[in-house]
Amino acid sequence: MFDLLIKNNRFTCRPGETVLDALLRENVNIPYGCRAGICQSCVVQSLDVTPPAEAQGNLKDTLKSSGHFLACQCVPEQAMRLKLPAQEAGYTDCAVIGSELMNRNTRLLIIRVNDAHRYKAGQFVNLQRSDGLTRSYSIANIPQSSGALEFHIRCLPGGRFSAWVHDELKVGDSLRVSEPQGHCFYLPDRKEQGLLLIGTGTGLAPLAGILADALAHGHSGPIRLFHGSREKEDLYWTEEMRELAKRYPNLSYTPCVSSGDAPEGFAPGRANEVALAAHPDLSRWRVFLCGHPDMVKNTQKQAYLKGARLADIYCDAFVVSTEAAD
Ligand SMILES: Cc1cc2nc3c(=O)[nH]c(=O)nc-3n(C[C@H](O)[C@H](O)[C@H](O)COP(=O)(O)OP(=O)(O)OC[C@H]3O[C@@H](n4cnc5c(N)ncnc54)[C@H](O)[C@@H]3O)c2cc1C
Ligand code: FES
Repeated sequence: MFDLLIKNNRFTCRPGETVLDALLRENVNIPYGCRAGICQSCVVQSLDVTPPAEAQGNLKDTLKSSGHFLACQCVPEQAMRLKLPAQEAGYTDCAVIGSELMNRNTRLLIIRVNDAHRYKAGQFVNLQRSDGLTRSYSIANIPQSSGALEFHIRCLPGGRFSAWVHDELKVGDSLRVSEPQGHCFYLPDRKEQGLLLIGTGTGLAPLAGILADALAHGHSGPIRLFHGSREKEDLYWTEEMRELAKRYPNLSYTPCVSSGDAPEGFAPGRANEVALAAHPDLSRWRVFLCGHPDMVKNTQKQAYLKGARLADIYCDAFVVSTEAAD
């Protein structure tokens, strides 16, 4: 057991427990999202000892050197004196300017931002409610062109943030938005290279942003988008994507349905399997994989085995927190 000291309060961290789990068990109000070291919403600062290296993950060097670390990745090796960030630190208040259903469970949420140039299509941000509840969502548009961020938010039954967005958040309300994060975005080099975009569910969000960005930059190589879901009703923007593919001869779009018989115009099977079967050699391709974490992990391995360079495989795994801890 190690003590965690915050101001004059002493909390206990049990053997093998992370700092995040210990603080949540002790009812300390600390923001978190993925609990998997991805979203960086659980950053805290050690005021005395150096945090374990694995808890500092991909943090910026300036944060590492000042003792910041990810609470969800830190199993302490000794007592620590901690400082929690102010709830709103690193976040900007932004207004909701649009909210509409795209299918039976997915909502397009649009938020006005003042500094749109800082955000790239395909990156993700953390959205924070006024009580500190924080979740990550991917940017589905080119922010610079509209001064707004668009998100595709799937409503999980009982999901604290997503159900609240669907049922309660209204146009005119405000949300806190973090700095942009992640490296899953389009770089306007090698415009003749093939782009293979594979997404499940709201994995279409970053892919739609990346696709729009590539087309806006005049990408000349083939662009192939595969979007999958179990049932047709859980796909969205199928007509919009079909129309876009008619306008751009180098773009093809394949909606995939994995459960039962696929209706006409839809490929039967999982998007990643359909896409990989159609591309036996990926040595000249840039591959973007977004959505369910298992799909992303497995397909990353297979794309590599089919010849894609690791540096040309971009992943955005939508890790959902496994435990409703507070
Ligand atoms: C980098 C990143 C980007 C992301 N981008 C997006 C995005 O663009 N769009 C998007 O919708 N989400 C995205 N997510 C997921 C998002 O951050 C939230 O985790 C998600 O919306 C659920 O949050 P919640 O508070 O509603 O659910 P929580 O209250 O956190 O509850 C999640 C609970 O639901 C359960 N659960 C998990 N999957 C399902 C399921 N399919 N059906 C029913 N229950 C389930 C889990 O076991 C868990 O207990 C992203 C995540 C990451 C890490
Ligand atoms: S990085 Fe810790 S909760 Fe996401």
